[in-house]
Amino acid sequence: MVEEQLAPASSTASGKNRGYAGQSKPVRLDEIGGDAEERLNTPISEFARVLGGGVVPGSIILVGGDPGIGKSTLLLQLAMEMSSVAYGSHTILYVSGEESERQIKMRALRLVRPENGSSQTDLPKNLLLVTETNLDVILDHIHEVRPEMVIIDSIQTVTLPEFSSSAGSVSQVRESAARLRELAKTSGISVFIIGHVTKEGVIAGPRVLEHIVDTVLYLEGDRYQSYRLLRSVKNRFGATSEVGVFEMRDRGMVEVINPSEAFLAERLVNTPGSAIAVTMEGTRPLLVEIQGLTTRSNFGNPRRTANGLDINRLLLNTAVLTRRAGINLTEQDVFANVVGGLTIEEPAADLAMSVAIASSLRDMPVKADLVLIGEIGLSGELRWVSQMIPRLREASKLGFKSAVIPRRTSHAETLPEGIKVLEARSLQEALRLSLIDQDAVHPKGK
Ligand code: TYD
Ligand code: MG
Repeated sequence: MVEEQLAPASSTASGKNRGYAGQSKPVRLDEIGGDAEERLNTPISEFARVLGGGVVPGSIILVGGDPGIGKSTLLLQLAMEMSSVAYGSHTILYVSGEESERQIKMRALRLVRPENGSSQTDLPKNLLLVTETNLDVILDHIHEVRPEMVIIDSIQTVTLPEFSSSAGSVSQVRESAARLRELAKTSGISVFIIGHVTKEGVIAGPRVLEHIVDTVLYLEGDRYQSYRLLRSVKNRFGATSEVGVFEMRDRGMVEVINPSEAFLAERLVNTPGSAIAVTMEGTRPLLVEIQGLTTRSNFGNPRRTANGLDINRLLLNTAVLTRRAGINLTEQDVFANVVGGLTIEEPAADLAMSVAIASSLRDMPVKADLVLIGEIGLSGELRWVSQMIPRLREASKLGFKSAVIPRRTSHAETLPEGIKVLEARSLQEALRLSLIDQDAVHPKGK
């Protein structure tokens, strides 16, 4: 149960920042201005990609994520680049309720590339900082500075004095965000809101804000690994489920231009228990290594552990392996893992997961230059997955020579050249095509 406060009646009538009342008027669609899509030049290309091309003026964007994942770092970097001379010297106001100005400056100095000397003079002149948590004061600052972009770090620290509830409560967070939206819509200023995803107090986290803002981005990743994914889950100005890939380094977030290559960098070739899947993140195909490990179970009830994969898909795939493909896992503990801290939800990774597990149990490596794409059904049949062509093209681009995919039902599309496509009807057939020792794959008696 959460206590909520209603806005005081007076607050809807007074205040300088709400300009809608009595001013709206129906307009014909073709009479509305703004034909060309306008966007602010967004230098970090992975960021621009997730936004659908760049920051739209007057839009309000929520960036959510676990504490310490890198939200402040990423937005400070964006602000510094956009306010630099090279990218049009946009005026940007960075409002922080979490860190002191000195702390932010130290971070900014760290983010300036050392080849520029990291001296004072390299810091952008049009980036203004203010540490403030009272939203009325923040709005006053914004009216005075007239920035093109505002960053609020974080929404959980911002308070409206007319509410007595504490910072970060549902009423504070929701009402503050609504005020910021009004500001964005009436002034054309783009507003970025940082919001922590809180493990226990999920209530006042970014979820309450999702319907208020235009775009919702989540920064995700394993805290103990360096890769970070910036994922759009809602976007009024572009495609959703688009991702940008970054790596957290000692000098801030660095774009990963070729993520597939990065995810495969530490792979041991010709080792049992490793298979390559091609997963789609938005419109981008990503090659990832899936590892499987089986060990004899000591107790009656064997364990199944999934890391970065859906546990239910792992359970289904182990059952199908046991019943339909002669890979007996009933007395085996099974572990499945996605390398690089990525989380894969789509069933297209079923085949790679199953082959990795079978490869571990049989102690036979998967062919080195092979990718596996396909969903597995309960009868052990392979099912077609969407966007096969871009997946195959990405695999080919990274030097993979062959791919095992489900048998095609339509031959309308031409498969990309440079990669040998092996079609399999069933999981069993796919195992025969993927594992190196071919004869031993057949279950006994066949
Ligand atoms: P931060 O951006 O403060 O996270 P958030 O705002 O999401 O809470 O990032 C904090 C972490 O990032 C901290 O553990 C230190 C690390 N970090 C780096 O590894 N390199 C850097 O250049 C910076 C600035 C931070
Ligand atoms: Mg922060």
